[in-house]
Amino acid sequence: MSEVKELRFFGRRKGKAIKQSKQRLIDDLLPRLKPVLPEDGTLFDMRKFFGINPREIWLEVGFGGGEHVAELAKMYPNVGILGAEPFINGVASLLAHLNGSHEQVTVHTNLEQGRVDNVRIWPDDVRDLFPFLPDGLFKRIFVLYPDPWPKARHAERRFINQANLKHLNRLLADDGQLFVATDVDAYAQWAVEQVEIGGHFKQINADISLSPIDWVPTRYEKKGIAAGRMPTYLVFSKKRPK
Ligand SMILES: C[S@@+](CC[C@H](N)C(=O)[O-])C[C@H]1O[C@@H](n2cnc3c(N)ncnc32)[C@H](O)[C@@H]1O
Repeated sequence: MSEVKELRFFGRRKGKAIKQSKQRLIDDLLPRLKPVLPEDGTLFDMRKFFGINPREIWLEVGFGGGEHVAELAKMYPNVGILGAEPFINGVASLLAHLNGSHEQVTVHTNLEQGRVDNVRIWPDDVRDLFPFLPDGLFKRIFVLYPDPWPKARHAERRFINQANLKHLNRLLADDGQLFVATDVDAYAQWAVEQVEIGGHFKQINADISLSPIDWVPTRYEKKGIAAGRMPTYLVFSKKRPK
């Protein structure tokens, strides 16, 4: 575990000053949704941590402003969704989506009316969570528009890498799917190469320009399309051991 604690996060943790209303959500709502990890080295029983009895659990790595997590949670009220994001302004944004205050002035710390309690938030580097989670926990894992770190000397910062793919493979259910989307062609190529090198996943979508069924575009995806960048969608399943 000490090996994981030493991992360095290279992205932003904080942006603009957070409004008082959002700070209240961070202080009052986030502690109810954030996993408290066992200190005795045991695994964290994520299934029991949702406010519902989840049919399955999905993970979103780096949810940005949280629109995708919030929308999926509405579309799939029986699914437990765990989102990880170290950028605290993004966490605040997801909390506001969950409690329905995103576009409103008034703030209450409960969930918005009609929403079920199926989202949990890890407001930090997802890699710190990996050692605490059991094999096969997630039916779907989303890595959407990961930071591309285009310079060759920063290649080891790219989230799709050998170490993370190994963890994601262990955490994915045998019949689960890993979704990676990017609008940086070099990153798509990198991701495919990394998956091939690792040899744990196989790509299962033939047309990488077509969004998978029920696809909800993220904020980055919408911005990219508006700016003329085209998404690449990669869907992987686990390779069966021979
Ligand atoms: C380019 S943004 C994309 C945000 C969002 N997925 C979207 O498509 O709108 C990439 C996000 O991944 C987050 N991120 C990077 N490394 C991460 C890690 N190790 N654990 C969790 N989040 C991470 C960053 O903080 C950033 O918000």
